[in-house]
Amino acid sequence: MRLTRQKIEPITVDRYTGGARINHWITAISLVLLALSGLALFHPSLFFLTDLFGGGQFTRMIHPWIGVVLFFSFFGLFFRFVRLNFWTRSDTIWMLNLGTVLENHDEEHDELVEIGKYNAGQKIVFWSMSVLIIVLISSGLVMWDQYFYDFTSIEQKRFAVLVHSAAAIVIICVWIVHVYAAIWVRGTIRAMTRGYVTGGWAWRHHRKWLRDMLGGGKSGDHHTGTTPAA
Ligand code: HEM
Repeated sequence: MRLTRQKIEPITVDRYTGGARINHWITAISLVLLALSGLALFHPSLFFLTDLFGGGQFTRMIHPWIGVVLFFSFFGLFFRFVRLNFWTRSDTIWMLNLGTVLENHDEEHDELVEIGKYNAGQKIVFWSMSVLIIVLISSGLVMWDQYFYDFTSIEQKRFAVLVHSAAAIVIICVWIVHVYAAIWVRGTIRAMTRGYVTGGWAWRHHRKWLRDMLGGGKSGDHHTGTTPAA
């Protein structure tokens, strides 16, 4: 008897359109470039980072413009996803049972409450990024002397430097949490690179979303990559 190995295609569910992914990666690249160029200007010991941007003068010139790109790019993400990031009662339950998620036992969690497209942790990251980007762009404009020197006083500019630096440090921490979570929950990165996730991933981490995608169908239903993604 000969045994042959059969290739079984996993069931996949669409999670992001091509447009959403391009929008996301422009935002992500902008934030990384902003962090590097901002850190280069933040402290003399990090000045060597200006080499990545063609020297000190060019870094100083390009940093605010990348900020403008990030602002508009994030604006696009915000309007795509805001509807799915409103807080619900199930998010409070998720937060109260955070321990089970951190121990990687989401399935126990699902017995309590099923999760929609985003869990409470993702929603907190979303809203933190939204607020911090507003703070960064507004404090950044106050300091952008090349165009707005006459509009604000020296005291206001000094205060803006403080707020801008603090917000930058917090957003870098939020970004680290976001990337760590994306890598830690296996199969998540593929959502933003290829646009889809496996049925198993959706069932385990975002069961309510999966049910909604299946049009209220029950767990046994199969669906292969034709569902609408945001
Ligand atoms: C550079 C490293 C980054 C990686 C590897 C990464 C990865 C991901 C992945 C895998 C998802 C999909 C999560 C899911 O569908 O469950 C996602 C969603 C998202 N990412 Fe990122 N990301 C990065 C940077 C950023 C930055 C810099 C921002 C914004 C400043 C951002 C904003 C978002 C938003 C708004 C979502 C949708 C989630 C929601 O609305 O709650 N990402 N990211």
